[in-house]
Amino acid sequence: MPNDYDLDAELARAAESLKWATKVAVLTGAGVSAESGVPTFRASDGLWEGHRIEDVATPMGFDRDPALVWRFYNGRRENVAKVRPNPGHVALAKLEERYADGFTLATQNVDGLHQTAGNKNVLEVHGSLRRTRCLNCEVVEDRGLEPLGDRPLCPHCGGFLRPAIVWFHEALPEDVWMSAMEAAGECDVLLVVGTSAVVYPAASLIPIAKRTKSLGATVIECNLTRTSASEQADVGLYGPSGVTLPKLLERMGIN
Ligand code: APR
Repeated sequence: MPNDYDLDAELARAAESLKWATKVAVLTGAGVSAESGVPTFRASDGLWEGHRIEDVATPMGFDRDPALVWRFYNGRRENVAKVRPNPGHVALAKLEERYADGFTLATQNVDGLHQTAGNKNVLEVHGSLRRTRCLNCEVVEDRGLEPLGDRPLCPHCGGFLRPAIVWFHEALPEDVWMSAMEAAGECDVLLVVGTSAVVYPAASLIPIAKRTKSLGATVIECNLTRTSASEQADVGLYGPSGVTLPKLLERMGIN
């Protein structure tokens, strides 16, 4: 961060652009849940530690060793069952109350913490830890966060289940992704919270927001550090999002 970085000035700019906005979109990543105790992916304490991404987060890995993949996801489900939303999640839920139908939150997270905090219009572009998909009958179901065993079977047809998570090399669910692109394309302000913005297509919501209005949306980045999205950001709120987002709401007079 440059020595003359002034968080207060950036908060004032962010609050001003939100004041005039009627449509607000948010893109979140693992960083928004870090203060709740959910590990991020690309930090040294990264979630993938001890496991190669190819083994636990690709369709090829699942074909090779489904029990290993299920053990990994059962561990993540167990961890998420213990955590609570942090003040960053709560601030985003309050922001939705302010903009109501003009608010859309697209998340790369699969932990469900935005919904627990109270957000309603949430697009889970990478799926959810709670849901399973049957490889035989294709039924997608919310199974909560209880461990499901090493080789769970579909209660309807007996087929093998997989986590309803978007893995590397897989396409995003089309309807969810279309809605996310639409929200980014129409918004006045895009908040980009806690993502390294290196995974596509999710990260492309940022250039979409910048391009599609005649003036482009105002992009506000909230992150611990600058990222590959920072060049495209008009405002940077650098610090833990559990601190900066509540401060932003305070500036906006929302409590
Ligand atoms: N407040 C704000 N930002 C934070 C915080 C915090 N308390 N803690 C960490 N961050 C930031 C990091 O600086 C980093 O930029 O969160 C970001 C986390 O980046 P990643 O670990 O790369 O997570 P994400 O961007 O969500 O990853 C995208 O990649 O691994 C796949 O499918 C997986 O959805 C995931 C996708």
